[in-house]
Amino acid sequence: MAAGLDAMQLYILFISLASLCHWLHYVQLKHWSEHPNLPKDLLLQLIERIRLERDYDTLVIYGSEPCVFHELLPQLGLPTVLLSQGSSWEDWSFSSKSLLLICNSNAEQEQNRRTLLKLQQARRLVYLEPEKQPTEVCEAYFQREQVNVAMVDAVGNLYSCRCFQQENYVQLALNLSDSYQTESTALVNLNSDFDKESDSNSNPHYDAIYVEQFANMRGLPIRAEPDQNGPRAFVYHKPSTGEYEIKGYLSNLITSFAERVNATVKLRDDIGLGQKMHFNNIMQLVKLNQLDIAATLATTMDFGRNDYLTYPYIHSSYCFMIPVPAQLDYKEIYTLIVQPLVAGVLIVLFLIFSLLYIYSQDLNWRRFSLIEMLLNDRCLRGLLGHAFPMPAQPSRHLKAICMLICFASIMTTTMYESYLQTYFTHPPHEMILRSFEDILTSRYKIAVERERAIHWVFENFNLTTTNAHRVLLFDDWQELLRLRETFNDSFIYPVADLHWLTLQEEQKYFRGPVFYYSEDVCIKRFILLALPVRLHLPYRQLFERHILAMQEFGILQFWMHNSFNEMVRLKVDSRMDYSHPEEPEDQLYVRDLTNILIFYLAAHLLACICFVLELCWARIFGIK
Ligand SMILES: *[C@@H]1O[C@H](CO)[C@@H](O)[C@H](O)[C@H]1NC(C)=O
Ligand SMILES: *[C@@H]1O[C@H](CO)[C@@H](O)[C@H](O)[C@H]1NC(C)=O
Repeated sequence: MAAGLDAMQLYILFISLASLCHWLHYVQLKHWSEHPNLPKDLLLQLIERIRLERDYDTLVIYGSEPCVFHELLPQLGLPTVLLSQGSSWEDWSFSSKSLLLICNSNAEQEQNRRTLLKLQQARRLVYLEPEKQPTEVCEAYFQREQVNVAMVDAVGNLYSCRCFQQENYVQLALNLSDSYQTESTALVNLNSDFDKESDSNSNPHYDAIYVEQFANMRGLPIRAEPDQNGPRAFVYHKPSTGEYEIKGYLSNLITSFAERVNATVKLRDDIGLGQKMHFNNIMQLVKLNQLDIAATLATTMDFGRNDYLTYPYIHSSYCFMIPVPAQLDYKEIYTLIVQPLVAGVLIVLFLIFSLLYIYSQDLNWRRFSLIEMLLNDRCLRGLLGHAFPMPAQPSRHLKAICMLICFASIMTTTMYESYLQTYFTHPPHEMILRSFEDILTSRYKIAVERERAIHWVFENFNLTTTNAHRVLLFDDWQELLRLRETFNDSFIYPVADLHWLTLQEEQKYFRGPVFYYSEDVCIKRFILLALPVRLHLPYRQLFERHILAMQEFGILQFWMHNSFNEMVRLKVDSRMDYSHPEEPEDQLYVRDLTNILIFYLAAHLLACICFVLELCWARIFGIK
């Protein structure tokens, strides 16, 4: 409770509605600019000029009273946060449109990580003590990676820090009307297309106080690391320079950004071709500030809203890639075409024909017996499409029945014949797996990395101890990737559709597709993917704007669709056919007839047994 009160005392939050003050403010400014001798008036004028450059919605004042900025508060009339101890104790999610007024060069001692991050892009105005040099102050701020800093001293000198320059600051005219006449320096030209906002005045002679410092980085190295996981980010050896360079739809984003802001991409010295990096290792480097931008993708599933990730770059789904169902064996085709319902209908038809045949012989039921009905020799042969002897001098009725049997036999035999021949030319496929239950009952195992399995697969699916063996956990993620890249069809792999695009591209050069991407069995149907960046990356916003621009122009799509072919072109990968299609068979072998032969043997055996039984029957009962 006491700590809470202390915190309350530390920053007193002034929030006042500004409408009235605003009006007064403009009126007063007009008046003051005619008498610019008073430092207070000049300061207000300066702050108004900053607002003209880019609007601000919150003021943050670092430093304790007495301080010139506190005296201005009534005139400023904006929501203001006073941080008299130089640091905020709680996480503040300041907007990037804050203006920081700092009472002296040491007043800002922000310790809070989140506040630091939020205020990194904000503009700062420091009231410089007489004995301080602007160089030192700029240097100190640059070391903290805060670059939007301007200083004003008691005499009325205005300085603004500039990165990437011999002298790390410029002196600007405090008086607005003077500065219109000042010949603009080359610095204004730094405001390339990236920074239209701060250049809102668009007067070429207007010297902006805050410029986009990183619009021209003058060769500053950006430390990047590709994960070398497939075509999204890979390393290749450029023969013309003899250096390793990176390509892929993630790497291209970084290299094109570097080109845009005149920076260079710096890779590890000991980088080599095809050395895959695990995502966790890259993330570790990012967290240790050893990398600026990592060419890998992190999901919002793993990280949620995270300060280490950029704005989402791509979206994807995360489903399974499943082997294309195999063709059925030829010998199974015989059993496949005998559908129980059709066979049942045929048997009923046979019985009806038998009854009709028995009746129409004499137009009465005298010849009827069970055996005659069930095993009517002529009907059986007729229906199976065999020749059978016509009875001598048949009646009209009998002739009609025989005609019917012949027609029925033509229909059924033709039907089965065509069925069989079609299937022999194009054998049907096994069942497509449409649900997780199907997968669990199939002959395939799901291959997953142990680390991911725990919260991806097991959370999503109802795995019990009885079916858990259907999942194969890999400790070695490289082994798993190798299996997937070589299209080993003993397993089912979880894969993002982003990655699937490449695999699909690769499959186009196979003799037949090996896998298909299942839209039915998914772990997540929508995930957002972003690039990991260092926490206090000072050009994070520029990079994010670059991401959006690349998306907007559709260049990302182009990169993605080209990525695999690009890899082949740069000889990092080759077009290998990992499919193993069965050779189309021209002839039938005896083994293909196994089922039918077994059926034939069984029927013969049955007939022999019947015959033996009949013999015994005659012997026992003496029937001649
Ligand atoms: C998982 O399966 C068990 C047994 O089949 C069932 O009792 C349970 O409700 C299922 N849980 C979910 C979340 O589907
Ligand atoms: C697929 O992987 C399994 C297990 O590692 C192996 O036994 C099998 O031979 C592989 N199949 C092919 C076609 O490489």
